[in-house]
Amino acid sequence: MKVCRTVAEIRAASTSHSRGSVGLVPTMGSLHEGHLSLLRAAREECDTVVMSLFVNPAQFAEDGDLERYPRDEARDLELARATGVDLVFAPSADEMYPPGFQTWVEVAELGSILEGEHRPGHFRGVATVVLKLFTIVRPDRAYFGQKDAQQVEVLRRMIRDLALEVELRVLPTVRDADGLALSSRNAFLTPEERERALALPRALSTRDPVAARAALAESNGLVVDYVEVADFDPPVLAGAVRVGSTRLVDNVPLEGDDE
Ligand code: PAF
Repeated sequence: MKVCRTVAEIRAASTSHSRGSVGLVPTMGSLHEGHLSLLRAAREECDTVVMSLFVNPAQFAEDGDLERYPRDEARDLELARATGVDLVFAPSADEMYPPGFQTWVEVAELGSILEGEHRPGHFRGVATVVLKLFTIVRPDRAYFGQKDAQQVEVLRRMIRDLALEVELRVLPTVRDADGLALSSRNAFLTPEERERALALPRALSTRDPVAARAALAESNGLVVDYVEVADFDPPVLAGAVRVGSTRLVDNVPLEGDDE
C-alpha cells in the first residue's frame, strides 16, 4: 500500500498502478466498521482501491469542531492496509486548498435543507472536496455510506448536474449491537450520553415522523434539530440531535429493505 501526500504523487501512482477499474473511498479517517464495509465493497468490485484520508476543513463550522475531530492516522493506515487498499491519498490542507483557493461547488437547494440549514456551508465544503478528489483520482466508482443520506443525495445531484463519469455506490448504515449508527463522533459520547443517544435510532425506527418526534420529545437530555421525511432516493426518515456537545445524524430508508 502506497501513501501519497501530494496531488502529483497520487496521480503518478494511480497511472502506474491502475489497470482496469478504480474505486475511491473518501474518508476523514478515524475509521470504523462503516468505512471498512465501503473498503471491502470497493476491494471486491474494483481492480485498484484508493482511500482518501483528509479531515476537510471546508465542511466544518468555525466553532472548534474541526480541531476536536478524532484523528489517528497510524491506526487508519493499518486498517486500510489490512483491508487491501492499494493507494492512500492523505494530503495536507494546503495541498487541497492552496493559497488563493476560491472555487466552490454549491448544490444549491439540496445543500441548504435539513443538515444544510443547521450547518450552513457544510455541503459546499463536501461537494467541493469530493469533486476535487474525483478529478485527482478519476475513479470509476465512489463509495459512500447511507448513514449520511443527505450527503449521498447532494453528491448524486452534483454527479448528474456536472455529467461526471463516476458511479455512486451507497452501502447500508452499519450499527452497533444497541442500534446506534457507527460514526467517528460516537467516540465523544460518555457512557451516559450514549445511552441517551439511543433514543434517536429508536425514534427513527418507527418510520413515522409524528411518532418519532413524540418519542424524542419525551427523551431527556437531547436537543432535536430536526426529524423529517426527506424525498431522497430512497426516501428516508432523517433526524439530527445534540447530546451534550456531540451532534448525531441518522436516518432510516422508507422504501426497500436496505438501511
Ligand atoms: O463522509 C465523510 O467522511 C466526508 O464528508 C467526506 C465524504 C469524506 C468528504 O470530506
